[in-house]
Amino acid sequence: MKLDINTPDFKWNELGFKYHQTNCHIIYKYKDGKWDDGELVEEPFLKIHIAATALHYGQTGFEGLKAFRMKDGKIRVFRPQANAERIISTCEYTMMAAPTVEMFLDGVRRVIAANIEYVPPYGSGASLYIRPVFFGTEARVGVSSAEEYALIIFVDPVSDYYKGGMSNPVKSLIMANTDRAAPYGTGHVKIGGNYVATVRASHLAKKRGYPILLFLDSASKTYIEEFATSNFFALTPTDSNGKRHYITPDSHSILHSITNMSLEKVAKDILGWEVERRKIPFKEVEEGKFNEIAACGTAVVITPIGEIDHEIVKEDGSIVINKHIIGDGKTVGSGLLKLQKTLIDIQNGEREDPFQWMWPS
Ligand code: PLP
Ligand code: COI
Repeated sequence: MKLDINTPDFKWNELGFKYHQTNCHIIYKYKDGKWDDGELVEEPFLKIHIAATALHYGQTGFEGLKAFRMKDGKIRVFRPQANAERIISTCEYTMMAAPTVEMFLDGVRRVIAANIEYVPPYGSGASLYIRPVFFGTEARVGVSSAEEYALIIFVDPVSDYYKGGMSNPVKSLIMANTDRAAPYGTGHVKIGGNYVATVRASHLAKKRGYPILLFLDSASKTYIEEFATSNFFALTPTDSNGKRHYITPDSHSILHSITNMSLEKVAKDILGWEVERRKIPFKEVEEGKFNEIAACGTAVVITPIGEIDHEIVKEDGSIVINKHIIGDGKTVGSGLLKLQKTLIDIQNGEREDPFQWMWPS
């Protein structure tokens, strides 16, 4: 059933991050070496071959981006070209047929136009999440890449991913005996397999009061990688030169977050901070080097982390938990507040967009 937004005082900011059916999605099909022109379809179900490579061998990837109704009344999308480029690299790595940047942008434009009333109002605290998903549709039983694909783009009005949104620091767990990605595996591309790998652990962590899992590198369990849903970054207190440092991990096995890259730019070029992308030993958290830590991504935006609990396996196989409170553990630090405000103001059109991130410009 379609989401009914026509009730008086519809509460956009209470939508959460759930699936809601809208008017339609767009589907493109790839066959005989080319993509078709795409079609808008109302029915949210697919007919798919029982031997499609997506179903058996996980030949499936996805993306996430957002559209905003801005202060000038226009609807714009945050950096869709960057998502198009990431789809292309995911497809190259997994040997799937990739759309062109132009085809992707046209699909995004068409699906938003057909669902225009679902773009939340300016200032509502909600946005239109755009979910592209692409997968092998050809029937194959041997493991190999398909020659037929589908690319679907659907939209979904959403608000906060984690309860309390950006003003509520959440507790994060590094779970013992649990890895997200192998050092030279698929952690750097946006494929379904990376998410199913964390579903069980995330479920168990949530039941224990941790909404978000953090992962260390799988090989040495020494360096910070990323969260199950988002990238990791940390801020230091102001140094003797009056500068804050924005520090985020460098690793082959993490997803290159468009939000993180954008925040690095905001931190450096707008706020005048130092930006470091480097290996981050977890020891730096233990030593209290960072007074603010956050998860960042399209869905989670900038979610403050108030505590990181680290499960360590001892030689006899038993597990101990070391707790690390970040800042005072309860309030959002001033650095994160500045980053949140700057990013959100650009996305809502409340400040100029110096990097031409909003599309169309
Ligand atoms: N890391 C993971 C594992 C993610 O799923 C996401 C979400 O897309 C991100 C990071 C953040 O990436 P982006 O900012 O491009 O949404
Ligand atoms: C996004 O932020 O767009 C993602 O794809 C993350 C996912 C866990 C919802």
